[in-house]
Amino acid sequence: MNRGFFITFEGGDGSGKSTQIGILRDSLTAKGYDVVLTREPGGTEISEKIRELILDPANSEMDDMTEAFLYAAARAQLVRQLIKPALEEGKVVICDRFVDSSIAYQAYGRGLGDAVGVINTYAVDDCMPDLTILLKLDPEKGSGRIAGREHDRIEQASDEFHRKVYEGYLKLEEMYPGRILGVDASGTIQEIAEEISLRVEGLMER
Ligand code: TMP
Repeated sequence: MNRGFFITFEGGDGSGKSTQIGILRDSLTAKGYDVVLTREPGGTEISEKIRELILDPANSEMDDMTEAFLYAAARAQLVRQLIKPALEEGKVVICDRFVDSSIAYQAYGRGLGDAVGVINTYAVDDCMPDLTILLKLDPEKGSGRIAGREHDRIEQASDEFHRKVYEGYLKLEEMYPGRILGVDASGTIQEIAEEISLRVEGLMER
């Protein structure tokens, strides 16, 4: 199989993922790579419909386990319909969030524990990222950055929930040092972009 390269971005709400994803996409495209940009939950027609269901603040009755299954369902569709085929064609896939989000938000944040990893074994189907960039920002600073806009159902969750999510990410960084690159997201846009670009180039040259 002519396998491409799979990069995911993770971090709390307001950690600056979108900016850094845009910079990396542009720089890889300029170097001649065929880059596919996608996001979670979403990225396919079906997964975007599931996204609406999950994030709609009107769905306040949603059970935590239902939420975990819906994220996994959106992921199962995205992996099979878009990510795997693109990697098989040798493309670089950049995904805004992936399975680590479910571990941080549902396993740690909601407190669902190991069940989340189990469900997601089926969702990711062995398709794990080659590199995960974790933008680390204190959750209080993150919520300050998104204060001016309308909040979705997850962003509306308590400060305590977002603190647990952050701690979950730090545990994941400790558990998978080879795959996850933790970057201090309080630096300047340029500093962060350079740190990411150094690691990505190093890996892709190999
Ligand atoms: P976004 O704001 O980065 O587009 O992501 C949507 C929200 O969904 C965000 O608050 C993080 C949350 N999320 C989870 O709780 N679990 C997941 O598996 C994913 C992919 C996202």
